[in-house]
Amino acid sequence: MIENKQMNRRKFLSYLGTGAAALAAASAGLGTLEGKASAASKTADHLFGFKTNRVTGFFEPIEASDADQLILPNGYSYDVVAAFDDVINQAGDKFGQGADYNAFFPIKGSNTRGLLVTNHEYTNIFLHGPIGDKMTPAQIHNELYYQGMSVTEVYQDENGTWKLDTTSKYARRINGFTKFELTGPAKNSKAVGSVSTVTGTFANCSGGVTLWNTVMSCEENFAETAAYASLNDTHYGWVVEIDPFDSKFLRKHTALGRFNHENTAMGIAKDGRIVVYMGDDKKDACVYKFVSKGKYDAAKGRGNSNLLSEGTLYVANLKSGKWSEVSIDAVKKVLNHDKFKAPSGVKGTKEELLQKFQTQGDVVTNCHEAALLVGGTPTDRPEDVEISPFDNTIFICHTNNDNHGNIHGHITRIFEADNDLGSTSFDFEIFAAGGRQSGFSSPDNLAFDSNGNLWVVTDISSGSLNKGVYTSFKNNGLFVIPTSGPSQGEALQFASGPRECEMTGPFFTPDEHTLFLSVQHPGENTTDVNKPTSMWPHRKGDKIPREAVVAIRGFKLG
Ligand code: FEO
Ligand code: CA
Ligand code: CA
Repeated sequence: MIENKQMNRRKFLSYLGTGAAALAAASAGLGTLEGKASAASKTADHLFGFKTNRVTGFFEPIEASDADQLILPNGYSYDVVAAFDDVINQAGDKFGQGADYNAFFPIKGSNTRGLLVTNHEYTNIFLHGPIGDKMTPAQIHNELYYQGMSVTEVYQDENGTWKLDTTSKYARRINGFTKFELTGPAKNSKAVGSVSTVTGTFANCSGGVTLWNTVMSCEENFAETAAYASLNDTHYGWVVEIDPFDSKFLRKHTALGRFNHENTAMGIAKDGRIVVYMGDDKKDACVYKFVSKGKYDAAKGRGNSNLLSEGTLYVANLKSGKWSEVSIDAVKKVLNHDKFKAPSGVKGTKEELLQKFQTQGDVVTNCHEAALLVGGTPTDRPEDVEISPFDNTIFICHTNNDNHGNIHGHITRIFEADNDLGSTSFDFEIFAAGGRQSGFSSPDNLAFDSNGNLWVVTDISSGSLNKGVYTSFKNNGLFVIPTSGPSQGEALQFASGPRECEMTGPFFTPDEHTLFLSVQHPGENTTDVNKPTSMWPHRKGDKIPREAVVAIRGFKLG
């Protein structure tokens, strides 16, 4: 079957399934999937000893493509579950634009019927047409309506096709008109205009599911919409929490800081405190973690949400390997130092900064500057962060940063001291690097499957796709990177998206029979809506491309 180490790479990589991979590895003399670091380890892998009976990684990798299609490996297919402007409920609410994060919540334990929570990150020319200096009131209304989130009810029909159930009592929109309760240090603080509630969420990028089955949704590039709509921008740029099954539960947790939030990854420290990892998707921005003051108590269910209002916010200092506190005391200490000099990225004199930072509310509201002041390391667009369910290491996509030549990005892996998410010190490695050698560029969202494979979508910007050094990668894709075994660290392409899209929000049903995935901004370079550069998903009679969530089927489970 497999003769030697020089075997055809693609052929070998198609044997990713647990049994087959072990067999292939053994016959190739590459060692087995025992999960221990060895001299041959490509990374500082230390205890991947997991056992699983699922083999979501079993597929024949595809080639990069520039076709205007969503291409999947042989044997896989997809259903368009919900597309931009589809009606989602009996009230006639519409699915938003810019689909991003997805989370699936089984109804009564079902893997074939549940609630799908989808983020809507931003709008484009197919919604609002050309924009002048200012948006018209109608354009502003649409901007606020079509961003935010959708809760939809989805199910598989008798033929196995995933569909929307528009009769659902849960289906609803959460958007620029929805009211939220603030929690944490900025609530009622001067920094946000002394309010305890705010109206609206938008720029909802990626997110995360909490241990108590609610969704955290992250407000990323909020500034433009806030400016167009003349809104107080300190009310945006937070982490939002919603309960898909309860339309009245709507919070913004200010203790987690205000910045260009990408996503959240939640875990538990050894002593029972809740830990939330977060990236700030901006060039030269930082990686954060929040550690709650109180401890998680499973019996309290959603009551654990209160843990997110009080705790310590930390920023990663990659040079010292320390998590530095982003607190008013730490900021004041730095500012009051005799030899204070503002770090790069922080504007203002010592006096101006002392004026700006007086309370923890000021610190969380102006989080990026506070983080730089206390020693946070500026990094290369930290996007999705995920905690490995197998060994508590933390994977972070650093998408790219052309400010200093990181063109293809990399995936950083953090090892917390004592393998404890509550630690204040850590070490790290570059787990995988984008570029020709790996076959992917600009990693963005991440998801683990139960086999320990990391699913990675890429975000080469629409303006750069299929040009210059990005040419060989063609359209954005979805890759699978095993975190152990003979193919550890290698990127296998699972999907290629239509023209000018990025794919976002990969999320498996609990049985891993279905993968939900968003196709965001196909045809983004279009300048004349009558001449779209993509027509995906090629619906009959349609004249524009539509961003959509698809359900991918065909996984062979062992
Ligand atoms: Fe919204 Fe950072 O991608
Ligand atoms: Ca993203
Ligand atoms: Ca992105």
